[in-house]
Amino acid sequence: MENLPFKKHSLLFAPMEGVTDGAYRLAVGRAFSEWDYFSTDFFRVPSVGNIYPEALNNHYGKRALENKKLYQKTSYQILTSARAQTKETVSIINDLGYHHLDLNLGCPSKKVNAHHGGAFLLSDLDALRVIIKEIRESFKGVFTAKIRVGYKDDLNFLNILKLLEDEGVEAITIHARTRDQLYQGIADWKYIKQAVKACNIPIIGNGDIWTVEDIVRIFDECDPYAVMLGRSALKTPWLATLFDQFKDNSHFLSEEFLLEERKQHLDTYFYELEKEFRIEGLKEEIILKRFKSFSRYIFDDFPDFETVRGRFLRSEKLEHFKDHLSNLIV
Ligand SMILES: Cc1cc2nc3c(=O)[nH]c(=O)nc-3n(C[C@H](O)[C@H](O)[C@H](O)COP(=O)(O)O)c2cc1C
Repeated sequence: MENLPFKKHSLLFAPMEGVTDGAYRLAVGRAFSEWDYFSTDFFRVPSVGNIYPEALNNHYGKRALENKKLYQKTSYQILTSARAQTKETVSIINDLGYHHLDLNLGCPSKKVNAHHGGAFLLSDLDALRVIIKEIRESFKGVFTAKIRVGYKDDLNFLNILKLLEDEGVEAITIHARTRDQLYQGIADWKYIKQAVKACNIPIIGNGDIWTVEDIVRIFDECDPYAVMLGRSALKTPWLATLFDQFKDNSHFLSEEFLLEERKQHLDTYFYELEKEFRIEGLKEEIILKRFKSFSRYIFDDFPDFETVRGRFLRSEKLEHFKDHLSNLIV
């Protein structure tokens, strides 16, 4: 039934704007090679002006493009609207040889939705159908979509799934919340289960899958083809490694063990990131800024997490941030 570039029960690192650029994917792909798949964050399809192939490749990341192994396990994500130049942009992406295109239908940003893009399209199925048809006609590779369960409510959920499947989308990632829920509450996996039953194409479960136990549980309870991890991947970039080692005996994972693993892996994580960012030519201040932005959830499991996180966030120099990392281990 499927022609996907990743196998059943894969762990996918979610697209995240401001995070998953080429350098980040290279670093994490090297440090934690157990991740089965990655995605670029979204490329916003322009409504006016020229579309330059160079800009599309830059969005993917020039150096990431040279890494063929990583390329095979990365999708290119776009975000578009009825007025944007979807057909033209997708044709160029196709001609550039990208093998997997993912359409972002979950972005809740007010600005994006005001331009009738992202999750807004879940409320306008006529416009959505036109866009899906255009992409399917212009793109020869694997075409997937990433949705929420609806815009204001879930009333269209099954119709959206059917539309996507009927028009040739090959797999659907579902962030199990409506757009209006933003990130409130806890994602309701019942939608994943419902979609698995309703569709003949693979469903990828997403939303509040934080731990190895959660991954095991969502596979058991909802039977998605694969899962995609966003904030949990940002919190625990080695989550795929843990899953690989402990999926059959997750009860062995004590808090103490996980905290020790965290201290060790954090060192590797930031070391590989710094290496990539330096090759990209990023200045130290920018590297520090990015490190801080990656630190939002990473210290949550420390007993005195507010103090620990505060120490990292107050670092005035990259050296200080790295000193704090070394101090975690001693
Ligand atoms: C910082 C950040 C940036 C994001 N950027 C994107 C994006 O570019 N494209 C996209 O489809 N989803 C984006 N998302 C949504 C995630 O991919 C994911 O669907 C969402 O966070 C729910 O999964 P989670 O509970 O595992 O975090 C972003 C999420 C975060 C936290």
